[in-house]
Amino acid sequence: MRVVLGVGGGIAAYKAAELVRALTKQGHSVQVVMTAAAQQFIQPLTFASLTGQKVITSLFPATPAAESLSSAVEHIAVAQDHDVLVVAPATADLCAKFAAGLADDFLSTLYLAFTGVVVLAPTMNTNMWNHPATQGNLATLRERGHILVDPDEGWLACGTTGPGRLPDPVRIAAVVNRLSQTKRDFSGENVLITAGPTQEPLDPVRFVSNRSSGKMGYALANAAAARGAHVVLVSGPVSLPPPLDVDVVHVSTAQDMHDAVLDHLEHASIIIKAAAVADYRLTYVPALKMKKTAARLSLELDPTPDILAEVGNRKGDRLLVGFAAETDHLLDEAKRKMISKNCDMMVANFVGDGAGFESDMNEVTILTRTGETVQAGPAQKSEIAERILDQILRLRLTLRAIAETA
Ligand code: CTP
Repeated sequence: MRVVLGVGGGIAAYKAAELVRALTKQGHSVQVVMTAAAQQFIQPLTFASLTGQKVITSLFPATPAAESLSSAVEHIAVAQDHDVLVVAPATADLCAKFAAGLADDFLSTLYLAFTGVVVLAPTMNTNMWNHPATQGNLATLRERGHILVDPDEGWLACGTTGPGRLPDPVRIAAVVNRLSQTKRDFSGENVLITAGPTQEPLDPVRFVSNRSSGKMGYALANAAAARGAHVVLVSGPVSLPPPLDVDVVHVSTAQDMHDAVLDHLEHASIIIKAAAVADYRLTYVPALKMKKTAARLSLELDPTPDILAEVGNRKGDRLLVGFAAETDHLLDEAKRKMISKNCDMMVANFVGDGAGFESDMNEVTILTRTGETVQAGPAQKSEIAERILDQILRLRLTLRAIAETA
Protein backbone atom coordinates (compact mmCIF):
# COMPACT_ATOMS: atom_id res chain seq x y z
CA MET A 1 0.00 0.00 0.00
CA ARG A 2 1.00 3.62 -0.39
CA VAL A 3 1.37 4.92 3.14
CA VAL A 4 1.86 8.53 4.16
CA LEU A 5 3.40 8.69 7.64
CA GLY A 6 2.89 11.89 9.62
CA VAL A 7 5.47 12.30 12.37
CA GLY A 8 4.47 14.56 15.26
CA GLY A 9 6.72 16.40 17.68
CA GLY A 10 7.23 14.14 20.66
CA ILE A 11 10.21 12.34 22.11
CA ALA A 12 8.86 9.14 20.50
CA ALA A 13 9.44 10.68 17.05
CA TYR A 14 12.67 8.69 16.81
CA LYS A 15 10.64 5.47 17.02
CA ALA A 16 8.85 6.50 13.80
CA ALA A 17 12.10 5.51 12.05
CA GLU A 18 11.53 1.92 13.26
CA LEU A 19 7.95 2.14 12.02
CA VAL A 20 9.20 3.18 8.56
CA ARG A 21 11.48 0.14 8.53
CA ALA A 22 8.65 -2.17 9.62
CA LEU A 23 6.34 -0.78 6.92
CA THR A 24 8.88 -0.85 4.08
CA LYS A 25 9.89 -4.39 5.08
CA GLN A 26 6.26 -5.42 4.46
CA GLY A 27 6.48 -3.94 0.96
CA HIS A 28 4.56 -0.69 1.57
CA SER A 29 5.90 2.55 0.07
CA VAL A 30 6.20 5.28 2.70
CA GLN A 31 6.08 9.06 2.23
CA VAL A 32 7.08 10.84 5.44
CA VAL A 33 5.62 14.19 6.49
CA MET A 34 7.16 15.86 9.55
CA THR A 35 5.71 18.68 11.63
CA ALA A 36 7.99 21.54 12.63
CA ALA A 37 8.05 20.18 16.20
CA ALA A 38 9.03 16.68 14.99
CA GLN A 39 12.08 18.21 13.32
CA GLN A 40 13.24 19.39 16.76
CA PHE A 41 13.52 15.73 17.78
CA ILE A 42 14.78 13.97 14.65
CA GLN A 43 16.32 15.01 11.32
CA PRO A 44 14.37 14.63 8.04
CA LEU A 45 17.53 13.03 6.61
CA THR A 46 16.92 9.93 8.76
CA PHE A 47 13.56 9.33 7.09
CA ALA A 48 14.79 10.32 3.62
CA SER A 49 17.57 7.71 3.96
CA LEU A 50 15.13 5.01 5.11
CA THR A 51 12.43 5.68 2.48
CA GLY A 52 14.55 6.88 -0.43
CA GLN A 53 12.04 9.70 -0.80
CA LYS A 54 12.00 13.42 -0.13
CA VAL A 55 10.56 14.18 3.31
CA ILE A 56 7.87 16.86 3.43
CA THR A 57 8.67 19.33 6.19
CA SER A 58 6.57 22.41 5.49
CA LEU A 59 3.38 23.64 3.83
CA PHE A 60 5.40 26.05 1.73
CA PRO A 61 8.52 24.17 0.59
CA ALA A 62 11.63 26.11 -0.35
CA THR A 63 11.87 24.07 -3.54
CA PRO A 64 8.93 23.52 -5.94
CA ALA A 65 6.73 20.47 -5.46
CA ALA A 66 8.15 17.22 -6.84
CA GLU A 67 7.33 16.72 -10.51
CA SER A 68 6.03 13.21 -9.94
CA LEU A 69 3.07 14.50 -7.97
CA SER A 70 -0.22 14.51 -9.82
CA SER A 71 -1.30 17.95 -8.68
CA ALA A 72 0.31 21.33 -8.39
CA VAL A 73 -1.01 21.64 -4.85
CA GLU A 74 1.24 19.31 -2.91
CA HIS A 75 -0.95 18.45 0.08
CA ILE A 76 -3.86 17.56 -2.23
CA ALA A 77 -1.54 15.48 -4.39
CA VAL A 78 -0.15 13.61 -1.39
CA ALA A 79 -3.72 13.05 -0.13
CA GLN A 80 -4.79 11.64 -3.50
CA ASP A 81 -1.71 9.50 -4.04
CA HIS A 82 -1.87 7.49 -0.80
CA ASP A 83 -4.13 4.78 0.62
CA VAL A 84 -3.41 5.16 4.32
CA LEU A 85 -2.44 8.09 6.54
CA VAL A 86 -0.60 6.93 9.65
CA VAL A 87 0.26 9.51 12.31
CA ALA A 88 2.82 8.33 14.87
CA PRO A 89 3.45 9.80 17.30
CA ALA A 90 0.10 11.61 17.21
CA THR A 91 0.67 14.24 19.89
CA ALA A 92 -2.14 15.76 21.98
CA ASP A 93 -1.78 18.89 19.84
CA LEU A 94 -2.17 16.99 16.56
CA CYS A 95 -5.19 15.06 17.87
CA ALA A 96 -6.79 18.37 18.90
CA LYS A 97 -6.05 19.92 15.51
CA PHE A 98 -7.48 16.94 13.62
CA ALA A 99 -10.58 16.84 15.83
CA ALA A 100 -11.19 20.57 15.35
CA GLY A 101 -10.34 20.56 11.63
CA LEU A 102 -7.54 23.12 11.91
CA ALA A 103 -5.24 23.28 8.91
CA ASP A 104 -2.22 25.42 9.69
CA ASP A 105 0.65 23.18 8.58
CA PHE A 106 1.27 20.46 6.01
CA LEU A 107 0.16 17.50 8.13
CA SER A 108 -3.10 19.04 9.38
CA THR A 109 -3.90 20.29 5.86
CA LEU A 110 -3.15 16.86 4.42
CA TYR A 111 -5.41 15.29 7.07
CA LEU A 112 -8.38 17.42 5.94
CA ALA A 113 -7.78 16.62 2.27
CA PHE A 114 -7.28 12.89 2.91
CA THR A 115 -10.13 10.49 2.09
CA GLY A 116 -8.40 7.15 2.77
CA VAL A 117 -8.02 5.21 6.02
CA VAL A 118 -6.52 7.13 8.95
CA VAL A 119 -4.50 5.33 11.64
CA LEU A 120 -3.46 7.34 14.68
CA ALA A 121 -1.03 6.33 17.43
CA PRO A 122 -1.69 8.91 20.18
CA THR A 123 1.42 9.38 22.31
CA MET A 124 1.77 11.83 25.17
CA ASN A 125 2.23 12.36 28.90
CA THR A 126 -0.29 10.37 31.01
CA ASN A 127 -2.01 13.47 32.41
CA MET A 128 -2.37 14.90 28.91
CA TRP A 129 -3.81 11.53 27.78
CA ASN A 130 -6.29 11.46 30.68
CA HIS A 131 -7.37 15.09 30.23
CA PRO A 132 -11.06 15.37 29.24
CA ALA A 133 -10.06 17.63 26.32
CA THR A 134 -7.81 14.90 24.86
CA GLN A 135 -10.32 12.13 25.58
CA GLY A 136 -13.05 14.22 23.92
CA ASN A 137 -10.84 14.74 20.84
CA LEU A 138 -10.03 11.02 20.67
CA ALA A 139 -13.73 10.15 20.91
CA THR A 140 -14.42 12.52 17.98
CA LEU A 141 -11.64 10.94 15.91
CA ARG A 142 -12.91 7.44 16.71
CA GLU A 143 -16.45 8.41 15.71
CA ARG A 144 -15.05 9.56 12.37
CA GLY A 145 -14.03 5.96 11.75
CA HIS A 146 -10.30 6.47 12.29
CA ILE A 147 -8.29 3.61 13.73
CA LEU A 148 -6.70 4.52 17.05
CA VAL A 149 -3.86 2.32 18.22
CA ASP A 150 -3.97 2.84 21.98
CA PRO A 151 -0.72 3.84 23.69
CA ASP A 152 1.27 1.37 25.73
CA GLU A 153 1.56 1.82 29.47
CA GLY A 154 4.92 2.18 31.14
CA TRP A 155 7.72 4.54 31.96
CA LEU A 156 7.50 7.83 30.03
CA ALA A 157 10.32 10.17 29.08
CA CYS A 158 8.80 12.88 31.32
CA GLY A 159 9.51 10.64 34.34
CA THR A 160 5.95 9.47 35.01
CA THR A 161 4.44 6.01 34.56
CA GLY A 162 1.10 5.28 32.88
CA PRO A 163 -0.57 5.21 29.46
CA GLY A 164 1.05 7.42 26.82
CA ARG A 165 3.97 5.51 25.28
CA LEU A 166 4.08 5.05 21.52
CA PRO A 167 2.94 1.46 20.86
CA ASP A 168 5.53 -0.95 19.51
CA PRO A 169 6.10 0.08 15.85
CA VAL A 170 5.62 -3.59 14.87
CA ARG A 171 2.07 -3.40 16.34
CA ILE A 172 1.28 -0.24 14.37
CA ALA A 173 2.70 -1.83 11.19
CA ALA A 174 0.50 -4.91 11.84
CA VAL A 175 -2.60 -2.66 11.87
CA VAL A 176 -1.55 -1.19 8.49
CA ASN A 177 -0.80 -4.65 7.08
CA ARG A 178 -4.18 -5.89 8.03
CA LEU A 179 -5.78 -3.02 6.09
CA SER A 180 -4.11 -4.25 2.93
CA GLN A 181 -5.46 -7.75 3.43
CA THR A 182 -9.13 -7.18 4.14
CA LYS A 183 -12.19 -5.52 2.78
CA ARG A 184 -13.46 -2.54 4.79
CA ASP A 185 -17.17 -3.34 4.58
CA PHE A 186 -17.80 -2.67 8.32
CA SER A 187 -16.44 0.83 8.17
CA GLY A 188 -18.77 3.26 10.00
CA GLU A 189 -20.30 0.46 12.12
CA ASN A 190 -20.04 0.50 15.92
CA VAL A 191 -19.97 -3.13 16.97
CA LEU A 192 -20.48 -4.14 20.59
CA ILE A 193 -19.31 -7.70 21.28
CA THR A 194 -19.37 -9.77 24.47
CA ALA A 195 -17.02 -12.69 24.93
CA GLY A 196 -15.85 -15.27 27.43
CA PRO A 197 -17.40 -16.62 30.59
CA THR A 198 -18.56 -14.75 33.67
CA GLN A 199 -17.42 -15.62 37.17
CA GLU A 200 -19.96 -15.57 40.00
CA PRO A 201 -18.34 -15.41 43.44
CA LEU A 202 -19.20 -17.97 46.14
CA ASP A 203 -17.05 -16.25 48.73
CA PRO A 204 -13.94 -14.01 48.56
CA VAL A 205 -11.79 -16.83 47.13
CA ARG A 206 -14.17 -19.06 45.12
CA PHE A 207 -16.39 -18.64 42.12
CA VAL A 208 -18.56 -20.61 39.68
CA SER A 209 -17.91 -20.21 35.99
CA ASN A 210 -18.02 -22.18 32.72
CA ARG A 211 -15.66 -23.52 30.08
CA SER A 212 -15.95 -20.64 27.59
CA SER A 213 -12.49 -19.57 26.36
CA GLY A 214 -13.68 -16.35 24.69
CA LYS A 215 -12.04 -17.40 21.41
CA MET A 216 -15.18 -17.01 19.28
CA GLY A 217 -15.97 -13.53 20.62
CA TYR A 218 -12.34 -12.42 20.26
CA ALA A 219 -12.23 -13.76 16.69
CA LEU A 220 -15.36 -11.72 15.92
CA ALA A 221 -13.82 -8.60 17.48
CA ASN A 222 -10.63 -9.07 15.46
CA ALA A 223 -12.49 -9.65 12.22
CA ALA A 224 -14.93 -6.74 12.67
CA ALA A 225 -12.07 -4.32 13.51
CA ALA A 226 -10.07 -5.53 10.51
CA ARG A 227 -13.11 -4.92 8.30
CA GLY A 228 -13.29 -1.30 9.49
CA ALA A 229 -15.68 -1.37 12.47
CA HIS A 230 -15.13 0.47 15.70
CA VAL A 231 -15.36 -2.39 18.18
CA VAL A 232 -16.08 -2.38 21.91
CA LEU A 233 -15.37 -5.82 23.35
CA VAL A 234 -16.88 -6.54 26.77
CA SER A 235 -14.85 -9.48 27.93
CA GLY A 236 -15.21 -11.87 30.83
CA PRO A 237 -12.01 -13.32 32.34
CA VAL A 238 -10.04 -15.05 29.55
CA SER A 239 -6.37 -15.60 28.80
CA LEU A 240 -6.31 -14.15 25.28
CA PRO A 241 -4.29 -11.15 24.05
CA PRO A 242 -6.44 -8.03 23.46
CA PRO A 243 -7.31 -7.69 19.76
CA LEU A 244 -5.65 -4.89 17.77
CA ASP A 245 -7.43 -1.51 17.76
CA VAL A 246 -10.42 -2.72 19.78
CA ASP A 247 -11.66 -1.07 23.01
CA VAL A 248 -11.68 -3.85 25.60
CA VAL A 249 -13.82 -3.52 28.74
CA HIS A 250 -12.88 -6.21 31.28
CA VAL A 251 -15.69 -7.55 33.47
CA SER A 252 -16.10 -10.43 35.86
CA THR A 253 -19.72 -11.11 36.85
CA ALA A 254 -22.93 -11.26 34.80
CA GLN A 255 -24.02 -8.05 36.54
CA ASP A 256 -20.75 -6.28 35.51
CA MET A 257 -21.25 -7.48 31.94
CA HIS A 258 -24.87 -6.29 31.99
CA ASP A 259 -23.80 -2.82 33.20
CA ALA A 260 -20.96 -2.52 30.65
CA VAL A 261 -23.21 -3.60 27.76
CA LEU A 262 -25.93 -1.10 28.69
CA ASP A 263 -23.27 1.63 29.09
CA HIS A 264 -22.14 1.09 25.48
CA LEU A 265 -25.49 0.24 23.90
CA GLU A 266 -26.42 3.74 22.78
CA HIS A 267 -23.54 4.08 20.29
CA ALA A 268 -23.74 0.51 18.98
CA SER A 269 -25.19 -0.26 15.56
CA ILE A 270 -24.60 -4.03 15.87
CA ILE A 271 -24.51 -6.09 19.08
CA ILE A 272 -23.07 -9.61 19.11
CA LYS A 273 -23.51 -11.53 22.35
CA ALA A 274 -21.01 -14.36 22.16
CA ALA A 275 -20.40 -14.48 25.93
CA ALA A 276 -21.38 -17.52 27.99
CA VAL A 277 -23.14 -15.66 30.79
CA ALA A 278 -23.82 -17.43 34.07
CA ASP A 279 -27.57 -17.87 34.54
CA TYR A 280 -27.40 -17.91 38.34
CA ARG A 281 -25.47 -16.24 41.12
CA LEU A 282 -25.33 -16.81 44.86
CA THR A 283 -28.18 -15.06 46.72
CA TYR A 284 -25.89 -13.90 49.53
CA VAL A 285 -22.12 -13.88 48.96
CA PRO A 286 -20.44 -14.25 52.39
CA ALA A 287 -17.84 -11.63 53.22
CA LEU A 288 -15.52 -14.29 54.68
CA LYS A 289 -14.26 -17.57 53.23
CA MET A 290 -16.77 -20.42 53.67
CA LYS A 291 -15.66 -23.12 56.10
CA LYS A 292 -16.11 -26.85 55.60
CA THR A 293 -18.69 -27.53 58.30
CA ALA A 294 -21.08 -30.24 57.06
CA ALA A 295 -21.04 -33.19 54.71
CA ARG A 296 -23.58 -31.57 52.40
CA LEU A 297 -23.74 -27.92 51.40
CA SER A 298 -26.71 -26.35 49.64
CA LEU A 299 -26.36 -23.02 47.92
CA GLU A 300 -29.24 -20.65 47.26
CA LEU A 301 -29.03 -19.09 43.82
CA ASP A 302 -30.85 -16.23 42.13
CA PRO A 303 -31.09 -15.70 38.39
CA THR A 304 -28.69 -13.15 36.83
CA PRO A 305 -30.08 -10.49 34.50
CA ASP A 306 -30.61 -11.86 30.97
CA ILE A 307 -28.55 -9.28 29.10
CA LEU A 308 -29.56 -10.44 25.63
CA ALA A 309 -33.26 -10.31 26.46
CA GLU A 310 -32.88 -6.82 27.95
CA VAL A 311 -30.97 -5.55 24.90
CA GLY A 312 -33.65 -7.18 22.73
CA ASN A 313 -36.26 -5.04 24.48
CA ARG A 314 -34.32 -1.81 24.00
CA LYS A 315 -32.55 -2.40 20.70
CA GLY A 316 -34.53 -0.08 18.41
CA ASP A 317 -33.19 -0.57 14.87
CA ARG A 318 -29.85 -1.99 16.05
CA LEU A 319 -28.98 -5.41 14.72
CA LEU A 320 -28.84 -7.95 17.54
CA VAL A 321 -27.03 -11.28 17.28
CA GLY A 322 -27.24 -13.92 20.02
CA PHE A 323 -25.45 -17.21 20.48
CA ALA A 324 -27.08 -20.43 21.58
CA ALA A 325 -24.73 -23.09 22.88
CA GLU A 326 -26.68 -26.30 23.19
CA THR A 327 -26.07 -29.97 23.85
CA ASP A 328 -29.43 -31.07 22.42
CA HIS A 329 -32.31 -29.82 20.20
CA LEU A 330 -29.83 -27.29 18.80
CA LEU A 331 -31.90 -25.58 16.12
CA ASP A 332 -35.25 -25.67 17.93
CA GLU A 333 -33.69 -24.12 21.03
CA ALA A 334 -31.81 -21.51 18.99
CA LYS A 335 -35.00 -20.50 17.18
CA ARG A 336 -36.92 -20.30 20.42
CA LYS A 337 -34.25 -18.05 21.98
CA MET A 338 -34.07 -15.86 18.85
CA ILE A 339 -37.78 -15.13 19.10
CA SER A 340 -38.07 -14.87 22.88
CA LYS A 341 -35.05 -12.53 23.16
CA ASN A 342 -36.04 -10.44 20.09
CA CYS A 343 -32.78 -11.17 18.19
CA ASP A 344 -32.29 -10.62 14.47
CA MET A 345 -29.85 -13.50 14.21
CA MET A 346 -28.90 -16.50 16.30
CA VAL A 347 -25.67 -18.42 15.97
CA ALA A 348 -26.34 -21.95 17.13
CA ASN A 349 -23.44 -24.06 18.16
CA PHE A 350 -23.35 -27.55 19.45
CA VAL A 351 -21.27 -27.90 22.60
CA GLY A 352 -20.13 -31.22 23.95
CA ASP A 353 -17.76 -33.91 22.65
CA GLY A 354 -14.94 -31.32 22.61
CA ALA A 355 -16.81 -29.08 20.12
CA GLY A 356 -17.34 -25.33 20.65
CA PHE A 357 -15.74 -24.40 23.97
CA GLU A 358 -11.95 -24.07 24.28
CA SER A 359 -11.30 -25.36 20.75
CA ASP A 360 -9.86 -23.22 17.90
CA MET A 361 -12.38 -24.86 15.59
CA ASN A 362 -16.12 -24.44 15.47
CA GLU A 363 -19.16 -25.43 13.45
CA VAL A 364 -22.28 -23.28 13.63
CA THR A 365 -25.69 -22.79 12.09
CA ILE A 366 -26.67 -19.18 11.53
CA LEU A 367 -30.42 -18.52 11.79
CA THR A 368 -32.04 -15.21 10.91
CA ARG A 369 -35.44 -13.82 11.79
CA THR A 370 -36.08 -13.56 8.05
CA GLY A 371 -36.01 -17.37 7.95
CA GLU A 372 -32.56 -18.06 6.53
CA THR A 373 -30.45 -20.96 7.76
CA VAL A 374 -26.77 -20.98 6.86
CA GLN A 375 -24.21 -23.59 7.85
CA ALA A 376 -20.62 -22.49 8.61
CA GLY A 377 -17.71 -24.81 9.33
CA PRO A 378 -16.21 -26.95 10.60
CA ALA A 379 -13.51 -24.29 10.32
CA GLN A 380 -11.15 -22.13 12.38
CA LYS A 381 -13.04 -19.68 14.62
CA SER A 382 -11.43 -16.81 12.67
CA GLU A 383 -13.05 -18.17 9.49
CA ILE A 384 -16.40 -18.71 11.23
CA ALA A 385 -16.20 -15.09 12.45
CA GLU A 386 -15.84 -13.85 8.86
CA ARG A 387 -18.89 -15.91 7.77
CA ILE A 388 -20.99 -14.53 10.66
CA LEU A 389 -20.01 -10.98 9.68
CA ASP A 390 -20.89 -11.71 6.03
CA GLN A 391 -24.33 -12.92 7.13
CA ILE A 392 -24.84 -9.83 9.32
CA LEU A 393 -24.28 -7.54 6.32
CA ARG A 394 -26.54 -9.72 4.18
CA LEU A 395 -29.28 -9.61 6.81
CA ARG A 396 -28.91 -5.84 7.09
CA LEU A 397 -29.54 -5.52 3.34
CA THR A 398 -32.54 -7.89 3.51
CA LEU A 399 -34.06 -5.98 6.44
CA ARG A 400 -33.59 -2.67 4.61
CA ALA A 401 -35.21 -4.07 1.48
CA ILE A 402 -38.15 -5.37 3.56
CA ALA A 403 -38.52 -1.96 5.27
CA GLU A 404 -38.51 -0.15 1.92
CA THR A 405 -41.19 -2.36 0.40
CA ALA A 406 -43.38 -2.39 3.54
N1 CTP B 1 -27.28 -14.46 27.69
C1 CTP B 1 -27.29 -13.23 28.29
N2 CTP B 1 -27.50 -13.11 29.62
C2 CTP B 1 -27.72 -14.21 30.39
C3 CTP B 1 -27.72 -15.48 29.79
C4 CTP B 1 -27.50 -15.58 28.44
O1 CTP B 1 -27.09 -12.23 27.59
N3 CTP B 1 -27.90 -14.06 31.70
C5 CTP B 1 -27.08 -14.54 26.25
C6 CTP B 1 -25.80 -15.24 25.80
O2 CTP B 1 -24.74 -14.31 25.66
C7 CTP B 1 -26.20 -15.83 24.47
C8 CTP B 1 -27.68 -16.09 24.60
O3 CTP B 1 -28.12 -15.30 25.71
O4 CTP B 1 -26.03 -14.90 23.41
C9 CTP B 1 -28.06 -17.50 24.84
O5 CTP B 1 -27.38 -17.98 25.98
P1 CTP B 1 -27.73 -19.42 26.56
O6 CTP B 1 -26.97 -19.64 27.83
O7 CTP B 1 -27.61 -20.43 25.47
O8 CTP B 1 -29.30 -19.23 26.83
P2 CTP B 1 -30.16 -19.08 28.11
O9 CTP B 1 -31.24 -18.09 27.79
O10 CTP B 1 -29.34 -18.81 29.30
O11 CTP B 1 -30.88 -20.49 28.16
P3 CTP B 1 -30.37 -21.90 28.76
O12 CTP B 1 -29.12 -21.66 29.55
O13 CTP B 1 -31.53 -22.33 29.58
O14 CTP B 1 -30.18 -22.77 27.57
